[in-house]
Amino acid sequence: MLTIAISKGRIYREALPLLDTAGIRPGDDPETSRKLVFDTNLDDVRMLVLRAQDVPTFVEHGAADLGLAGKDVLLEHGGEGLYEPLDLGIARCRMVVAVRRGRETLPRRPRVATKYVESTRRFFAAAGVQAEIIKLYGSMELAPVVGLADCIVDLVDTGSTLAANGLVEVEEVCPISTRLIANKASMKMKHARMKTFIDSLSNAVAEDPAP
Ligand code: ATP
Ligand code: PRP
Repeated sequence: MLTIAISKGRIYREALPLLDTAGIRPGDDPETSRKLVFDTNLDDVRMLVLRAQDVPTFVEHGAADLGLAGKDVLLEHGGEGLYEPLDLGIARCRMVVAVRRGRETLPRRPRVATKYVESTRRFFAAAGVQAEIIKLYGSMELAPVVGLADCIVDLVDTGSTLAANGLVEVEEVCPISTRLIANKASMKMKHARMKTFIDSLSNAVAEDPAP
């Protein structure tokens, strides 16, 4: 049996066509069902529906053999105990530093609001900037507007959320996309089945007309 961990929402929606090309069709729709474990059209493949941030934890501990997780989530998790065999190229966006328009010059010790504490810590440390990090769980764009922080580190795709809140990007932290992750023990114990799955998903990514 192969167990695949996936989060609903953006990643699930964008992964569905790839999974379909790879020959895997979920038996239920997690957007409408309350079930958290799904059978698929394949007798030996099932799916777990989790919060995006929990996917690496389930895979690392072997509760799932494979998972689909954003690079942003993996950078926060740390990535120990996991393989990352494939970039699925979906749910693409960028992690950036953004400030209020007109406040592009940061103070020497900026206050940075973010959900991405580890990536932010590493980014400012690499730049030799001593930042005070303020952990938030969402609506980061609000923090500079109300004076909670000098800047934010958040994900940007179209830029419309930044623009709607009077913010501008000043630096890119890193590009983000969804990665296939694999449990290390499963890669040894279920090598042949895992390899078949990874190869078929890899072929589906190669065939995908999306950039
Ligand atoms: P939750 O809503 O449960 O807190 P989440 O906000 O991380 O979780 P999604 O918004 O579905 O869940 O995002 C899932 C993943 O999609 C993120 O981890 C990131 O890799 C990617 N992502 C997030 N925002 C965007 C965006 N605006 N455009 C493209 N990809 C994005
Ligand atoms: C993400 C991210 C930004 C927004 C950026 O939020 O946290 O707020 O997308 O996208 P844009 O550049 O295209 O506007 P999401 O829509 O996932 O909401 P959430 O943070 O509440 O999950």
